[in-house]
Amino acid sequence: MSNQGESDGELEARLPEGESFSPPESFVEQANVTDESIYEEFEENWPECWERAADLLDWEESYDQVLDDSDAPFYEWFADGKLNASENCLDRHVEDGRGDEVAIEWVGEPTDESRTYTYDELLQEVNEFAAALREQGVEEDDVVTMYMPMIPELPIAMLACARIGAPHSVVFAGFSADALATRMNGADSEHLVTCDGYYRRGDPLNHKDKADEGLDGVDHDVTTVVVDRLGDELDHELGENQLDYDDLVADHEGATVEPVTRDAEDMLFLMYTSGTTGQPKGVKHTTAGYLSYAAWTSHAVLDIKPEDNYWCSADIGWITGHSYIVYGPLALGTTTVMYEGTPDYPDKDRMWQIVDDYDVTQLYTAPTAIRAFMKWGAEYPQQHDLSSLRLLGTVGEPINPRAWKWYYKHIGDESCPVVDTWWQTETGGMMVTTLPGIAEMKPGSAGPPLPGISADVVDMNGSPVEPGEAGYLIVNKPWPGMLRTLYKNDERFINEYWDEYSNPDKDEWVYFPEDGAKLDDDGYITVLGRVDDVINVSGHRLGTMELESAIVGVEGVAEAAVVGGDHEIKGEAVYAYVITEDGVEGGADLREQIVEGVEDAIGPIARPEEIVFSPELPKTRSGKIMRRLLEDIANGDELGNTSTLRNPEIVDDIAGKVGED
Ligand code: WTA
Repeated sequence: MSNQGESDGELEARLPEGESFSPPESFVEQANVTDESIYEEFEENWPECWERAADLLDWEESYDQVLDDSDAPFYEWFADGKLNASENCLDRHVEDGRGDEVAIEWVGEPTDESRTYTYDELLQEVNEFAAALREQGVEEDDVVTMYMPMIPELPIAMLACARIGAPHSVVFAGFSADALATRMNGADSEHLVTCDGYYRRGDPLNHKDKADEGLDGVDHDVTTVVVDRLGDELDHELGENQLDYDDLVADHEGATVEPVTRDAEDMLFLMYTSGTTGQPKGVKHTTAGYLSYAAWTSHAVLDIKPEDNYWCSADIGWITGHSYIVYGPLALGTTTVMYEGTPDYPDKDRMWQIVDDYDVTQLYTAPTAIRAFMKWGAEYPQQHDLSSLRLLGTVGEPINPRAWKWYYKHIGDESCPVVDTWWQTETGGMMVTTLPGIAEMKPGSAGPPLPGISADVVDMNGSPVEPGEAGYLIVNKPWPGMLRTLYKNDERFINEYWDEYSNPDKDEWVYFPEDGAKLDDDGYITVLGRVDDVINVSGHRLGTMELESAIVGVEGVAEAAVVGGDHEIKGEAVYAYVITEDGVEGGADLREQIVEGVEDAIGPIARPEEIVFSPELPKTRSGKIMRRLLEDIANGDELGNTSTLRNPEIVDDIAGKVGED
């Protein structure tokens, strides 16, 4: 690597803020998309331009119409087309004679454990598990829940569901038993696939007990399949209606299941995500629009080619893993790397060891991870040969220019483009980012909207703001990967996303992602973060309402307000301000119970960074909690105007208590 002795200070001096970087020549020469006219072409041919995405798929029957907007904002894409997602991710590559090429490289947390699945092998196991699910009574359109960590059986189960036309709903393994129950009840899901446990930093972690506890909270009967991940390391027992994954697959050895013909608009999966109000939202994605969009963005932005060893280090339990570990890469027939563990086990060079061992060509990760790598130091990546890397990507939260530059230099050796991709669970795939073979990159700014995507930054009234001014990000044309609705709740779908800036009388529909942003003179969008009551902790979306209701559920707590405070590594961290009931003292014991309450209701990712007990919360005269003030307090910032408060004196009191515990 060049300039290895350089400090970050020197690096920043050399790469000053506001500077832009050209895509490296070596990258451009081989990039999937290099012709700048693609932006114009998509604009002029919209919406037919999206046939480019549809053409990346194999169709059993072609569609009649690219976009049907007759019932906006319930848009339909490629309607009447017929296809199967698992067929597109597996069978067609095998039929092309590529069956012995690697589909999944699975890297276990223990350094001596890995598994390789060729496309032949993956198809076989998907077939066998699909046959097993069917035998258990899973029918087309039944929602199958998966509560699994990063083990190969997770994508296998997802593809098996896709094969038989049963939508999946994957619940992140780090979520709590309660969170599992809420999601299974919400989706009326009568089938669960889970596992005994998994490794975390060398120790076997029991997962099955948590799954069983979740099942206790499900209000209907469920059949469960349990993967034995840990073998002798952890004993587990199967209860009533619980079956062993290996037994089931063995019973169906050699089975083949004809992929079910699905309509373009049939649901492929549900994914629950946090929103402003208490209950998580069941985002519905469909077969053709979603899959074509995941494949197109994987091709255009991640520059995926079949011969690549591509690695996205997200968890499949989040949308990033769905679109960019499973569906996008497999639809393009590449090798997708999947890692079970954490980046610092057994040591802080684990990620770079994997890049080196597997000759990883693209790495897609989150700013929170990059900030941790930066803190650990460049000596860890320097121990390994990272020269196989061709492209770097980030997603999940804003990336600060310093972290961007560190990634660009110390991981990419200044010879890989960095794509900072803005998108959401709801958008299905990337929306705002540079095309790596075309555009200049600006650290900290995601870039222009992708070709065919129409986005803008507006003020509260919907008028475009001047370059450089902060406003709200909007998307004013539909796109194939968009969510179609919230599961069984069309009304909430409209209220959450289309109410703010649309003009239904004129049939003008504007999607509001609830992010703040600003635009520069070149049309680059810098995303500033959520403007609703969602906080982003290490790239994970958490609803403050969900957190507050978990805290208020703890005995002795009368009221709680949660805000996001700045955090060096996590981006944002949970700050909870708590009023206790009369006669209850806010001390170490209650603090512990609150942490437990939050972990039980949501999961360890939501654990509060700081819990501040206070006799009152700052409220306006109309009784609204002044969250902005609580954020200022969390960040140690100068406090905003307190004159509109009913109880201004409380502010200094609370500020004095932050950091006390
Ligand atoms: C934030 C993850 C800035 C944003 C794919 C969005 C980002 C939320 C970026 C969605 C980025 C995602 N720059 N902010 N490149 N990418 N976000 O649904 O606030 O888990 O609304 O989807 O993450 O989070 P979600």
